[in-house]
Amino acid sequence: MDKKIALVTGASRGIGAAIANKLVELGYYVLGTATSDQGALAISEQLSDSGVGYKLDVGSEGSIKAFFADLKSSDLLPLVVVNNAGITDDGLALRMKGDQWQRVIDTNLSGAFRVAQAAFRSMTKARWGRIVNVSSVVAQAGNPGQANYCASKAGLEGMTRSLAKELANRNITINCVAPGFIASDMTEMLNDQQKDAILTQIPMGRMGDANEVAAVVGFLCTEPASYVTGQVLQVNGGMYMS
Ligand SMILES: NC(=O)c1ccc[n+]([C@@H]2O[C@H](COP(=O)([O-])OP(=O)(O)OC[C@H]3O[C@@H](n4cnc5c(N)ncnc54)[C@H](OP(=O)(O)O)[C@@H]3O)[C@@H](O)[C@H]2O)c1
Repeated sequence: MDKKIALVTGASRGIGAAIANKLVELGYYVLGTATSDQGALAISEQLSDSGVGYKLDVGSEGSIKAFFADLKSSDLLPLVVVNNAGITDDGLALRMKGDQWQRVIDTNLSGAFRVAQAAFRSMTKARWGRIVNVSSVVAQAGNPGQANYCASKAGLEGMTRSLAKELANRNITINCVAPGFIASDMTEMLNDQQKDAILTQIPMGRMGDANEVAAVVGFLCTEPASYVTGQVLQVNGGMYMS
């Protein structure tokens, strides 16, 4: 394999699919994941010779272990990891169930840590690596009804800064990209009233496009970004300025 290998979790649709396409454009061989065999097959068909789809549940430690064992035996360990897979399960804190909290933390935060940890060995050996964690504007801004999601994304940002300090001397950069409201299945769940209320908070007056997020993730995976680490790059149309 001449090309560098990039892994994108949650590449079956939305922001992850756009990131997978961007990384192909940048010359990477892309491993894209979905939660079903059918989704993995669709990714393989979409990526054609430029990559392959896999089934992975980032909320399961066993699934991550088995996946990386498979990659190792196929000599496909990635030097670029984009932790994009994420879920919401909204509810006001007063009524939030324990498993509702835990599932979001397990998927969005613990999953990202375990995937990054599994990839460190090959990155350390190569003395080169890139990790991009997809956070959210609400990690810093907060959002009622999303205590679990906001905690998972704020945790991701703190974890990113820590890992960036640990691995900087191995030439491994670790950053977050924090999208604002981007048109995807995730935001399609909102009703028109909720969407209108959000639009009033966005100075650009529109939702973002997945390709606008992918462009920033792609930049972090190029050589010109080699001195950027431990950062959170906001892609939110001016909605929140940190
Ligand atoms: N859309 C937004 O406005 C927005 C804003 C800020 C941040 N984000 C973040 O951006 C990322 C992508 O969001 P999106 O809007 O593109 O979401 P989406 O359209 O809902 O897609 C989610 C992706 O994650 C995968 N996924 C879900 N649960 C998973 C699990 N347990 N293990 C592995 N993969 C799993 C899905 O796979 P399947 O297709 O197999 O279900 C799918 O590929 C997420 O981390 C999200 O929090 C989105």
